[in-house]
Amino acid sequence: MGKRRATITAVGHYVPEKILSNHDLEKMVDTNDEWIRTRTGISERRILEQGATSDLCVRAIESLLAQRKIEATDIDLIIVATITPDMFFPATACVVQDKIGARNAWGFDLSAACSGFLYALVTGAQFVESGVYSKVIVVGADKMSSIIDYTDRNTCILFGDAAAAVLLEATEEEGFGILDHRLYSDGSGGSGLHMKGGGSLNPASHETIDRRMHYVYQDGKAVYKAAIKGMADVSAEVMERNNLKGNDIAWLVPHQANLRIIDATAERMGLDPSKVMINIDKYGNTTAATIPLCLSEWWQCGKLKRGQNIVLSSFGAGYTWGAVLIKWSLVNSAKP
Ligand code: UT7
Repeated sequence: MGKRRATITAVGHYVPEKILSNHDLEKMVDTNDEWIRTRTGISERRILEQGATSDLCVRAIESLLAQRKIEATDIDLIIVATITPDMFFPATACVVQDKIGARNAWGFDLSAACSGFLYALVTGAQFVESGVYSKVIVVGADKMSSIIDYTDRNTCILFGDAAAAVLLEATEEEGFGILDHRLYSDGSGGSGLHMKGGGSLNPASHETIDRRMHYVYQDGKAVYKAAIKGMADVSAEVMERNNLKGNDIAWLVPHQANLRIIDATAERMGLDPSKVMINIDKYGNTTAATIPLCLSEWWQCGKLKRGQNIVLSSFGAGYTWGAVLIKWSLVNSAKP
């Protein structure tokens, strides 16, 4: 028996049905399908027409509970990574806890934008490793359409809505589970990607609305430069710390913000492009949901297998970035 570690024992996701395609966006702002695809890799994204982030979370968690064949009352802790909570308070985790009937769980929200899932995963893992809790749900969820300005072509082409969740439990199998992580923040990058209005600095007023301060603002070029370096550096760092070469890695699970950032990260890691999970074409950037959404889709189609080394990697607003190394422990009976 080895050290007690946290491992992922179930994974589920939910994407809303409504599709917003590049061609739809051509009718809304001055853009075109060719520009969006070549600059970002995105063809379409999903939009939640009714309901809130908690509703996305509930659907993702329900699928996870069914997969693991457990009840909501078995859950000890729920961490919701999001920058689009239903409301400032109560926490979306409390709303979710009530909606799924997880009467024995407590929960909280974690705000780290596109790195939210990795921050929450590492946080949840500490509670499992310490032996304090046995079943922790970590969900990455964002209804980005609620904070996007659909008259701003710089941002409205990029984002979509989704949620995906994992269940963390303990394993003592030597060398399996969440093996290592590196997480970073650099608040000096804050002005590159933010939403100015609605917080205590600029409470909602007629003026904040007139100045369109309740929407995502991004200095695309500045964030792009920082992301290319941040995601590649931290992914390489986690590999080096664990003496892993490109051949040892089965999957890179990158945050899906831009296909060019993903390609640069894979190249730096010495990975064959066939080992990179990419679904940005279908969903765009779903912020905290991108990484578990990839995991869930690859799991469902039987490509994620027990014993594989996988590296999760992200970069986002804050700036926040990081990478997590996992040896996947679940046996997959789905046919690839
Ligand atoms: O997930 C959180 C982290 N976020 C990221 O990692 C995003 C990082 N940034 C990016 O992915 C890229 O910077 C973008 C995809 C946002 C933009 O791509 P870019 O290659 O950096 O384009 P740009 O902003 O430099 O714009 C190039 C040109 C500009 O025109 P001029 O000034 O050259 O005449 C823009 O006005 O493309 C224009 N443009 C567009 N054209 C058609 C900007 N947006 C659009 C658009 N359609 N939607």
